[in-house]
Amino acid sequence: MKGARIFLGVTGGIASYKAAALTSTLVQRGAIVDVVLTPEAERFVGALTFSSLTARPAYVSLWDMPERIPHIRLVREADVAVVAPATANVIAKLAHGIADDLLTTALLAARIPVVLAPAMNDAMYAHPATRENLATLRARGYEFVDPERGYLAEGETGVGRLASEDRILEAIARVLARRRSLAGKRVAITAGPTREAFDPVRFVSNASTGAMGIALAREAALRGASVTLLLGPTLLEPPAGVEVVRVTTACDLYDAALAQAAGTDLIIASAAVADWRPESSSESKVKKTDADLVVRMVRNPDVLAALGERKGTSFLVGFAAETDDHERNAREKLARKRLDAIAVNDVRDGRGFGTGENALALLWGTADRRDLGAGDKSALAARLLDAVEELMGCS
Ligand SMILES: Cc1cc2nc3c(=O)[nH]c(=O)nc-3n(C[C@H](O)[C@H](O)[C@H](O)COP(=O)(O)O)c2cc1C
Repeated sequence: MKGARIFLGVTGGIASYKAAALTSTLVQRGAIVDVVLTPEAERFVGALTFSSLTARPAYVSLWDMPERIPHIRLVREADVAVVAPATANVIAKLAHGIADDLLTTALLAARIPVVLAPAMNDAMYAHPATRENLATLRARGYEFVDPERGYLAEGETGVGRLASEDRILEAIARVLARRRSLAGKRVAITAGPTREAFDPVRFVSNASTGAMGIALAREAALRGASVTLLLGPTLLEPPAGVEVVRVTTACDLYDAALAQAAGTDLIIASAAVADWRPESSSESKVKKTDADLVVRMVRNPDVLAALGERKGTSFLVGFAAETDDHERNAREKLARKRLDAIAVNDVRDGRGFGTGENALALLWGTADRRDLGAGDKSALAARLLDAVEELMGCS
């Protein structure tokens, strides 16, 4: 923690008094802490408490600061933003991009990892609105220190109690440990499906949404890498701070990926590339008739194998989505396509594609294996990059 710059947001929950103890611990461990309270938090604990603990100003309002754009400076200078406790209200605002006070405005401008420690009444925590807001933020890469079951302010017991200080400190330490681990590295990530048209309105594709590759791109950028995301057709938003190259077909992706290969330190190929495309595509919509339609499919170029041949010194990680014998098939692909490692997921019963969750194992060498476990794709992206960095010798 020594020398780490921490932006600590405190919101208007009963657990806000615990934020004072957290601030004190962070300062004692050598962190430089800038505290921002919501106006509601100040009803519970005064800014004076925090400014006394940090020996720095503690901020509440956008409007009473001497400088012109304080919210930008505060998050630009920090290594990590932490909100503890995070109320249901602030979680909802963050999920919807509402920026109506200094804290939420600063967080909307943040390009640093954000750790949220929710704390609230158990019914508020269980409410579908809160669940959806939490899921939205998780999918955007926010990290959570989930609340615990225990005694709540109303005298009831339930899930909603602020996580222990130790758990919050662990989460902050974890984020800080990986913050600059890919600084100076160039990373290219392929993501999403491809579309292979047979007329202007019809195409062959697959169920990939690109969520895994988007999570990897976000995580690599947070670790300081310069990231290019080669993204197939998807409605998901690519992360901020990443160069995005949009592609549609496997042939587009092939050209874009090979253009990236030279000078890239790490290539992660998570796109679900169509293996075949219709031999020809009609310029106008094929008219419906009573007859069957036969579309001849021809082989697409193999993007991963081509990258394997031309990767030079880049570290190349492939993905294998398999329904049968997944590890054996993935190992065969690892060797045949000259990959440095392969992340394998079992996509039986709709797992992996189009959901926020996944389960992965990373394979390399002839028999090496690390189980990355199951979880949301942001958490898996962090675990995958931890493992890949170790193999590349970055950490
Ligand atoms: C005594 C009291 C305790 C509260 N505790 C919580 C809480 O623990 N978690 C929460 O989400 N809201 C809690 N609230 C409601 C919030 O204060 C309220 O939603 C407020 O608008 C939050 O503002 P903020 O999110 O901008 O800080 C509490 C309200 C009161 C009066």
